[in-house]
Amino acid sequence: MTIRIEDQNLLFHLQTDHTSYIFRVMENGELGQLYYGKRVHAKPAYDNLATKTWHNVAALWRQEQHDLHPQLLKQEYASLGKGDFRDPAYQVTQENGSRITEFKYQEYQLVDGKKHLKGQLSTFDDNGDDAQTLTIVLKDQLLGLVMNLKYTIFPHQDVIIRSTSFQNQGTEKLTVNSAASAQLDLPDADYDFIQFSGAWARERHLIRTHLRSGIQSVGSLRGTSSHQQNPFVMLARPTASDATGSVYGFNLVYSGNFRDQVQVDQYDASRILVGINPQEFAWNLKPGETFQTPEAVLSYTDAGMNQLSQQMGAFYQEHLVNQRFAHEQRPTLINNWEATFMDFDEAKLLDFAKTAKKLGLEMFVLDDGWFGHRNNDDSSLGDWFVNEPKFPNGFGNFANQIHDLGLKFGLWFEPEMISIDSELYKQHPDWLINAPGRHASPERQQFVLDMTRPEVVDYLFSAMSKIIDMTKLDYIKWDMNRNITETSSGQLSSDDQLEMPHRYILGVYQLYDRLVKTYPDVLFESCSSGGGRFDLGMMYYAPQAWTSDDTDAVERMMIQFGTSYGYPQMMMGAHVSAVPNDQVGRITSLETRSNVAYFGDFGYELDITKMSAEEQQQVKEQTAFYKAHRQLFQFGKFYRIDNPFENGGNVMSWEVVSADKQHAIAGRYQLLNRPNIGYIRFKVVGLDPDTKYIVNGSTEEFYGDELMNAGLVLDDILKATHGTDRSADFSSKLLVIDAIK
Ligand code: GLA
Repeated sequence: MTIRIEDQNLLFHLQTDHTSYIFRVMENGELGQLYYGKRVHAKPAYDNLATKTWHNVAALWRQEQHDLHPQLLKQEYASLGKGDFRDPAYQVTQENGSRITEFKYQEYQLVDGKKHLKGQLSTFDDNGDDAQTLTIVLKDQLLGLVMNLKYTIFPHQDVIIRSTSFQNQGTEKLTVNSAASAQLDLPDADYDFIQFSGAWARERHLIRTHLRSGIQSVGSLRGTSSHQQNPFVMLARPTASDATGSVYGFNLVYSGNFRDQVQVDQYDASRILVGINPQEFAWNLKPGETFQTPEAVLSYTDAGMNQLSQQMGAFYQEHLVNQRFAHEQRPTLINNWEATFMDFDEAKLLDFAKTAKKLGLEMFVLDDGWFGHRNNDDSSLGDWFVNEPKFPNGFGNFANQIHDLGLKFGLWFEPEMISIDSELYKQHPDWLINAPGRHASPERQQFVLDMTRPEVVDYLFSAMSKIIDMTKLDYIKWDMNRNITETSSGQLSSDDQLEMPHRYILGVYQLYDRLVKTYPDVLFESCSSGGGRFDLGMMYYAPQAWTSDDTDAVERMMIQFGTSYGYPQMMMGAHVSAVPNDQVGRITSLETRSNVAYFGDFGYELDITKMSAEEQQQVKEQTAFYKAHRQLFQFGKFYRIDNPFENGGNVMSWEVVSADKQHAIAGRYQLLNRPNIGYIRFKVVGLDPDTKYIVNGSTEEFYGDELMNAGLVLDDILKATHGTDRSADFSSKLLVIDAIK
């Protein structure tokens, strides 16, 4: 048993291979948190950890229990209004307006495995990986409201999944005003809060700040998880780094408005809350109804952030991502977007596809502009039928020609959107999200469909299905290019309007669910103007995501490096595009562009038909190289070495290592070259110290410990400047490391 329960003391000890999570039922019937961190021995009780101190100036739970001050307690799922003045994990309002609740422990249920959550996407244990699920049932007798706190441990990845549900067994209508997926109270505040923040085209840059008294949080109210903040955050000891130290990771299996918050209180205790953003949220619970939160993912290690990313990444691959694709190598692709934008015809595309085939690429992805009468971004969203002037011989025929070339065929959709200039809008103007009596705010000349309406989901399913059937589609890039404004739904009552943001994303999941189940072999890549919805909710359906609209190699180093903390590289779409780069105008070599893009799901996004013969040859060689090492690039253990968010950011490096440590590829990148510098000794990581390796086919042999501790001198990076016409700015070097048999 890895979940140990001391029935007498009502103590719950969740043990994973390397961590312990301990809580108990307190004297007031609520749950008290005792410990989360490195694994400790199981004991019947931890009286010392449960010590309380008497304070004269703090509210008491009851007069006779003179040492139970809610504000001093570390709790599992705290309320507001009964003496704990920190932000609560939830709030429920009665018909009479009271927001006071008193949940008391009723019972627990312990089962092996992990069930899929009803009506929600969730993590799973379909392959017998020793998961166990503990449900703690609490009840507020006055309200007849039952709270289920669910904990699943995935012992081998050191992951704990938490979620909460509220079930109204009473007689009055209740409103859930907020409901976190998880709360964690830690006894001190000597942590750095590490968040991944940015904007369109510069997503998930790492920001690290020490915790301070008060509240620090990240979140979104955009209807998506957003470019600006990501639901993945960490709390790390100040000395922790990629290679060493104590660190907690938190993420949310959700794609809508979220909030991750840390509150440091007067005693320097830290409360972490992760879940749906309580702003713009409320859920009405009629008698008999249940509300289930999304799941939160918690993980801990004392072995540094690389280890944390690896264990969480392994967990997603086994227990979250669509298993049809979780372990399957992803195809190399050519996407026409940055090459043609919407200005293309059949002949041009076929020329493109033939060249792609010649160069060894495996899939042709046709991006925006193939449907309705779309030649610009001012029309046709919602009209998911072919743009006939562009495909006079029929779309099925075009798809056949792509398939006949021996390429897979992929297509861009933006299902959740509607243009005013569309057939769909003519027929269903009420499907466009808007508030009564207001004008709808445009963004990118487009508007959002009301995904809370089942008829919208039905329409999209049937329109998309026709195209998928007609083209025998292999891949869909599902885009979402604007945020939601005037959030309101014509089909919800005035009372239910605050349910809209959550219902919207549930509608999106429903459409995904139907498509994935009907077309199990179609690979989905999610996208939201690049990385605006790069989250675990999307990953459940779409095993990969377009990491950013910024394809500049230097920008991508930061974006992919930042993203790698929370998400494994097989989730990151990474393409080589043209120079000067479309987003920043920077010129980098084709070599550096591919050296960055290799560490993800590789492809090209430029006009390969216009490249010189020499460049085409380079593309051919790069594609062959990637395919030869694809397993390693996509599924190898990922290590960050030089962090571009530290030390002035001039150098970045990372590495992938095979599970058996026989193969590794490291990439080292520098922004600006400097004159007259000393040796660069580059130390790789993750090898077997006792194995001998060669590097880039060298004749010299190196023990793993030498490569990891003494390093390799990279003098050819410096030689690149003097007397050559090559710039050593934005230069990069790959080290292909192979064990000697
Ligand atoms: C978004 C995507 C791009 C491309 C365009 C098409 O910006 O991120 O990759 O598909 O939409 O309009």
